[in-house]
Amino acid sequence: MNSLDQALSHKRFAWIGSETKAEATWVCQTCGLIEPKFWPINGHYIRQRCQCEIDEEQRLLKEKRRQDEMIFLARRTYEWLGRGWSDAPLVQKTFENFRAERQQDAYDMARMFALEPQGTLVLHGNYGTGKTHLLAAICNEIRLRLIGSHFVTAPKLFKAIQEKIQYNEDYNGIIHYASHAPLLVIDDIDKAKASEFREEIYFEIIDERTKRGLPIAISTNRLEDLANYVGGAVCSRLSIGQIAVPMNGADFRMGMEPVEGTITPIRGGN
Ligand SMILES: Nc1ncnc2c1ncn2[C@@H]1O[C@H](COP(=O)(O)OP(=O)(O)O)[C@@H](O)[C@H]1O
Ligand SMILES: [Mg+2]
Ligand SMILES: [Zn+2]
Repeated sequence: MNSLDQALSHKRFAWIGSETKAEATWVCQTCGLIEPKFWPINGHYIRQRCQCEIDEEQRLLKEKRRQDEMIFLARRTYEWLGRGWSDAPLVQKTFENFRAERQQDAYDMARMFALEPQGTLVLHGNYGTGKTHLLAAICNEIRLRLIGSHFVTAPKLFKAIQEKIQYNEDYNGIIHYASHAPLLVIDDIDKAKASEFREEIYFEIIDERTKRGLPIAISTNRLEDLANYVGGAVCSRLSIGQIAVPMNGADFRMGMEPVEGTITPIRGGN
Protein backbone atom coordinates (compact mmCIF):
# COMPACT_ATOMS: atom_id res chain seq x y z
CA MET A 1 0.00 0.00 0.00
CA ASN A 2 1.49 3.41 -0.87
CA SER A 3 1.18 6.51 1.30
CA LEU A 4 -1.80 7.80 -0.65
CA ASP A 5 -3.72 4.54 -0.21
CA GLN A 6 -2.89 4.60 3.51
CA ALA A 7 -4.08 8.18 3.92
CA LEU A 8 -7.33 7.35 2.14
CA SER A 9 -8.13 4.20 4.12
CA HIS A 10 -7.27 6.01 7.36
CA LYS A 11 -9.73 8.76 6.46
CA ARG A 12 -12.48 6.36 5.46
CA PHE A 13 -12.45 4.47 8.73
CA ALA A 14 -11.68 7.36 11.08
CA TRP A 15 -15.20 7.33 12.58
CA ILE A 16 -15.09 3.69 13.70
CA GLY A 17 -14.71 3.31 17.44
CA SER A 18 -16.63 6.42 18.52
CA GLU A 19 -18.90 5.41 21.39
CA THR A 20 -19.92 8.06 23.88
CA LYS A 21 -21.10 11.50 22.87
CA ALA A 22 -18.01 13.12 24.38
CA GLU A 23 -15.65 10.76 22.53
CA ALA A 24 -17.36 11.40 19.24
CA THR A 25 -17.50 15.18 19.57
CA TRP A 26 -14.55 17.16 18.34
CA VAL A 27 -13.45 20.65 17.37
CA CYS A 28 -12.08 21.59 13.98
CA GLN A 29 -9.95 24.74 14.08
CA THR A 30 -11.71 26.01 10.96
CA CYS A 31 -15.26 24.68 11.23
CA GLY A 32 -15.68 24.77 15.02
CA LEU A 33 -17.56 22.23 17.12
CA ILE A 34 -18.56 19.09 15.21
CA GLU A 35 -21.46 17.32 16.88
CA PRO A 36 -21.68 13.53 16.50
CA LYS A 37 -24.62 11.65 15.10
CA PHE A 38 -26.61 9.32 17.32
CA TRP A 39 -26.96 5.80 15.97
CA PRO A 40 -30.11 4.34 17.57
CA ILE A 41 -29.43 0.77 16.41
CA ASN A 42 -26.58 0.28 18.90
CA GLY A 43 -26.92 3.43 20.98
CA HIS A 44 -23.51 4.75 19.88
CA TYR A 45 -22.50 8.19 18.73
CA ILE A 46 -20.69 8.49 15.47
CA ARG A 47 -18.05 11.08 14.84
CA GLN A 48 -18.95 13.36 11.92
CA ARG A 49 -16.55 14.79 9.40
CA CYS A 50 -16.20 18.53 8.89
CA GLN A 51 -16.02 20.18 5.46
CA CYS A 52 -12.19 20.39 5.59
CA GLU A 53 -11.99 16.60 6.05
CA ILE A 54 -14.44 15.99 3.22
CA ASP A 55 -12.46 18.34 0.95
CA GLU A 56 -9.16 16.69 1.91
CA GLU A 57 -10.55 13.24 1.11
CA GLN A 58 -11.75 14.49 -2.28
CA ARG A 59 -8.29 15.92 -2.93
CA LEU A 60 -6.61 12.62 -2.01
CA LEU A 61 -9.03 10.67 -4.18
CA LYS A 62 -8.31 12.95 -7.13
CA GLU A 63 -4.57 12.57 -6.58
CA LYS A 64 -4.96 8.78 -6.36
CA ARG A 65 -6.94 8.68 -9.61
CA ARG A 66 -4.23 10.73 -11.33
CA GLN A 67 -1.50 8.49 -9.92
CA ASP A 68 -3.34 5.39 -11.20
CA GLU A 69 -3.73 7.02 -14.59
CA MET A 70 0.01 7.83 -14.69
CA ILE A 71 0.87 4.19 -13.92
CA PHE A 72 -1.56 2.98 -16.56
CA LEU A 73 -0.05 5.31 -19.16
CA ALA A 74 3.52 4.39 -18.15
CA ARG A 75 2.67 0.72 -18.75
CA ARG A 76 1.06 1.56 -22.04
CA THR A 77 4.17 3.50 -23.04
CA TYR A 78 6.92 1.12 -21.96
CA GLU A 79 5.22 -2.27 -21.64
CA TRP A 80 2.79 -2.23 -24.55
CA LEU A 81 4.51 -5.29 -26.07
CA GLY A 82 4.07 -7.16 -22.77
CA ARG A 83 5.95 -7.18 -19.44
CA GLY A 84 8.73 -9.29 -20.96
CA TRP A 85 9.69 -6.39 -23.22
CA SER A 86 9.48 -3.70 -20.55
CA ASP A 87 11.52 -0.50 -20.77
CA ALA A 88 10.23 0.60 -17.35
CA PRO A 89 13.45 2.33 -16.18
CA LEU A 90 12.87 4.98 -18.85
CA VAL A 91 10.00 6.33 -16.74
CA GLN A 92 12.78 8.12 -14.83
CA LYS A 93 14.17 9.99 -17.85
CA THR A 94 12.77 13.50 -17.98
CA PHE A 95 13.60 16.94 -19.35
CA GLU A 96 14.25 18.02 -15.77
CA ASN A 97 17.05 15.49 -15.22
CA PHE A 98 18.61 16.05 -18.65
CA ARG A 99 21.56 18.44 -18.68
CA ALA A 100 20.30 20.66 -21.47
CA GLU A 101 23.57 22.53 -21.99
CA ARG A 102 25.17 19.29 -23.25
CA GLN A 103 22.77 19.09 -26.23
CA GLN A 104 20.98 22.42 -26.30
CA ASP A 105 19.51 22.17 -29.84
CA ALA A 106 18.23 18.63 -29.37
CA TYR A 107 16.84 19.51 -25.94
CA ASP A 108 14.98 22.56 -27.31
CA MET A 109 13.63 20.60 -30.28
CA ALA A 110 12.51 17.68 -28.13
CA ARG A 111 10.73 20.08 -25.76
CA MET A 112 9.01 21.78 -28.66
CA PHE A 113 8.00 18.43 -30.14
CA ALA A 114 6.59 17.36 -26.76
CA LEU A 115 4.46 20.51 -26.62
CA GLU A 116 2.70 19.57 -29.84
CA PRO A 117 3.90 16.30 -31.39
CA GLN A 118 3.61 16.39 -35.17
CA GLY A 119 5.56 15.11 -38.17
CA THR A 120 8.77 13.17 -37.61
CA LEU A 121 11.46 13.96 -35.09
CA VAL A 122 14.79 12.27 -35.79
CA LEU A 123 17.57 12.37 -33.21
CA HIS A 124 20.76 11.12 -34.77
CA GLY A 125 24.36 10.91 -33.69
CA ASN A 126 26.94 9.21 -31.50
CA TYR A 127 26.38 6.70 -28.72
CA GLY A 128 25.64 8.07 -25.28
CA THR A 129 24.66 11.57 -26.32
CA GLY A 130 21.19 11.33 -24.79
CA LYS A 131 19.00 10.26 -27.72
CA THR A 132 17.12 7.60 -25.74
CA HIS A 133 16.90 9.91 -22.74
CA LEU A 134 15.26 12.70 -24.76
CA LEU A 135 12.86 10.32 -26.55
CA ALA A 136 11.72 8.95 -23.19
CA ALA A 137 11.49 12.50 -21.79
CA ILE A 138 9.04 13.34 -24.61
CA CYS A 139 6.87 10.32 -23.71
CA ASN A 140 7.00 11.19 -20.01
CA GLU A 141 6.19 14.84 -20.63
CA ILE A 142 3.10 14.16 -22.74
CA ARG A 143 2.05 11.51 -20.22
CA LEU A 144 1.62 14.35 -17.68
CA ARG A 145 -1.00 15.73 -20.06
CA LEU A 146 -2.57 12.25 -20.14
CA ILE A 147 -1.48 11.60 -23.73
CA GLY A 148 -0.38 8.02 -24.32
CA SER A 149 2.51 6.92 -26.51
CA HIS A 150 4.30 3.71 -27.40
CA PHE A 151 8.06 3.52 -26.93
CA VAL A 152 10.06 0.69 -28.45
CA THR A 153 13.56 -0.04 -29.67
CA ALA A 154 13.67 -1.49 -33.17
CA PRO A 155 15.34 -4.75 -32.02
CA LYS A 156 12.63 -5.32 -29.38
CA LEU A 157 9.86 -4.60 -31.85
CA PHE A 158 11.10 -7.29 -34.21
CA LYS A 159 11.94 -9.76 -31.46
CA ALA A 160 8.38 -9.44 -30.14
CA ILE A 161 6.98 -9.98 -33.64
CA GLN A 162 9.34 -12.91 -34.17
CA GLU A 163 8.20 -14.46 -30.91
CA LYS A 164 4.56 -14.27 -32.02
CA ILE A 165 5.45 -15.93 -35.32
CA GLN A 166 7.38 -18.64 -33.49
CA TYR A 167 4.33 -19.49 -31.37
CA ASN A 168 1.99 -19.26 -34.36
CA GLU A 169 0.30 -16.22 -32.86
CA ASP A 170 -1.11 -13.29 -34.74
CA TYR A 171 1.20 -10.26 -34.65
CA ASN A 172 -1.27 -7.84 -36.24
CA GLY A 173 -2.11 -6.49 -32.80
CA ILE A 174 1.43 -5.12 -32.52
CA ILE A 175 1.19 -3.48 -35.95
CA HIS A 176 -2.21 -2.06 -35.05
CA TYR A 177 -1.04 -0.54 -31.76
CA ALA A 178 2.09 0.89 -33.39
CA SER A 179 0.04 2.36 -36.23
CA HIS A 180 -2.55 4.06 -34.05
CA ALA A 181 -0.73 5.30 -30.94
CA PRO A 182 -0.99 9.08 -30.48
CA LEU A 183 2.82 9.06 -30.59
CA LEU A 184 5.12 6.25 -31.66
CA VAL A 185 8.77 6.27 -30.63
CA ILE A 186 11.19 3.89 -32.32
CA ASP A 187 14.58 4.06 -30.66
CA ASP A 188 17.74 2.70 -32.30
CA ILE A 189 16.12 2.15 -35.67
CA ASP A 190 19.52 1.18 -37.08
CA LYS A 191 20.07 -1.60 -34.51
CA ALA A 192 17.67 -4.03 -36.18
CA LYS A 193 19.28 -5.55 -39.26
CA ALA A 194 17.60 -4.61 -42.52
CA SER A 195 15.45 -7.23 -44.25
CA GLU A 196 12.55 -7.26 -46.68
CA PHE A 197 10.20 -8.47 -43.92
CA ARG A 198 11.25 -5.63 -41.61
CA GLU A 199 10.85 -3.04 -44.36
CA GLU A 200 7.31 -4.34 -44.92
CA ILE A 201 6.48 -4.01 -41.24
CA TYR A 202 7.84 -0.46 -41.14
CA PHE A 203 5.86 0.33 -44.27
CA GLU A 204 2.60 -0.93 -42.78
CA ILE A 205 3.11 1.08 -39.61
CA ILE A 206 4.49 4.31 -41.06
CA ASP A 207 2.16 4.41 -44.05
CA GLU A 208 -0.86 4.11 -41.75
CA ARG A 209 0.50 6.75 -39.40
CA THR A 210 1.27 9.14 -42.25
CA LYS A 211 -2.26 8.75 -43.62
CA ARG A 212 -3.65 9.54 -40.19
CA GLY A 213 -1.22 12.43 -39.65
CA LEU A 214 0.15 10.79 -36.49
CA PRO A 215 3.58 11.84 -35.21
CA ILE A 216 6.63 9.65 -34.79
CA ALA A 217 10.00 10.14 -33.12
CA ILE A 218 13.02 8.00 -33.91
CA SER A 219 16.70 7.74 -33.16
CA THR A 220 19.54 6.40 -35.21
CA ASN A 221 23.30 6.58 -35.17
CA ARG A 222 23.52 7.53 -38.84
CA LEU A 223 20.80 9.52 -40.56
CA GLU A 224 22.40 8.91 -43.97
CA ASP A 225 21.76 5.17 -43.63
CA LEU A 226 18.11 5.44 -42.60
CA ALA A 227 16.79 4.24 -45.99
CA ASN A 228 18.90 1.08 -45.65
CA TYR A 229 17.00 0.12 -42.51
CA VAL A 230 13.46 1.21 -43.23
CA GLY A 231 13.40 1.17 -47.05
CA GLY A 232 13.03 4.02 -49.54
CA ALA A 233 9.22 4.27 -49.40
CA VAL A 234 9.21 4.61 -45.61
CA CYS A 235 12.13 7.02 -45.68
CA SER A 236 10.19 9.27 -48.02
CA ARG A 237 7.12 9.16 -45.76
CA LEU A 238 9.30 9.96 -42.76
CA SER A 239 10.55 13.07 -44.53
CA ILE A 240 7.10 14.68 -44.24
CA GLY A 241 7.39 17.39 -41.62
CA GLN A 242 10.73 15.99 -40.54
CA ILE A 243 12.92 17.70 -37.98
CA ALA A 244 16.32 16.01 -37.85
CA VAL A 245 18.62 17.03 -35.00
CA PRO A 246 22.25 15.93 -34.84
CA MET A 247 23.48 14.85 -31.41
CA ASN A 248 27.22 14.54 -31.39
CA GLY A 249 29.83 14.93 -28.71
CA ALA A 250 31.19 12.87 -25.84
CA ASP A 251 29.49 9.72 -24.55
CA PHE A 252 27.68 10.83 -21.38
CA ARG A 253 27.97 7.30 -19.97
CA MET A 254 31.74 7.77 -19.58
CA GLY A 255 31.27 10.05 -16.58
CA MET A 256 28.44 8.10 -14.96
CA GLU A 257 28.42 6.08 -11.71
CA PRO A 258 27.32 2.46 -12.16
CA VAL A 259 23.60 1.99 -11.47
CA GLU A 260 22.76 -0.35 -8.59
CA GLY A 261 19.87 -2.81 -8.66
CA THR A 262 18.11 -4.28 -11.64
CA ILE A 263 14.88 -3.28 -13.30
CA THR A 264 12.77 -0.52 -11.78
CA PRO A 265 9.13 -1.61 -11.79
CA ILE A 266 6.47 0.86 -12.90
CA ARG A 267 4.63 1.86 -9.74
CA GLY A 268 3.00 4.76 -7.98
CA GLY A 269 4.58 8.18 -7.73
CA ASN A 270 6.36 8.11 -11.08
N1 LIG B 1 22.64 15.58 -21.26
C1 LIG B 1 22.37 14.57 -20.41
N2 LIG B 1 21.96 14.84 -19.16
C2 LIG B 1 21.71 13.86 -18.28
N3 LIG B 1 21.87 12.55 -18.54
C3 LIG B 1 22.29 12.21 -19.77
C4 LIG B 1 22.56 13.19 -20.77
N4 LIG B 1 22.95 12.56 -21.88
C5 LIG B 1 22.92 11.25 -21.61
N5 LIG B 1 22.53 11.04 -20.34
C6 LIG B 1 22.44 9.75 -19.66
O1 LIG B 1 23.48 8.97 -20.18
C7 LIG B 1 23.04 7.63 -20.43
C8 LIG B 1 23.17 7.33 -21.91
O2 LIG B 1 22.32 8.18 -22.64
P1 LIG B 1 21.33 7.65 -23.76
O3 LIG B 1 20.16 8.57 -23.84
O4 LIG B 1 21.06 6.21 -23.56
O5 LIG B 1 22.27 7.83 -25.03
P2 LIG B 1 22.07 7.36 -26.55
O6 LIG B 1 20.67 6.89 -26.67
O7 LIG B 1 22.34 8.59 -27.35
O8 LIG B 1 23.09 6.30 -26.79
C9 LIG B 1 21.59 7.57 -19.95
O9 LIG B 1 21.59 7.09 -18.61
C10 LIG B 1 21.14 9.03 -19.99
O10 LIG B 1 20.14 9.27 -19.03
MG1 LIG C 1 19.99 4.97 -27.16
ZN1 LIG D 1 -13.02 21.66 9.33
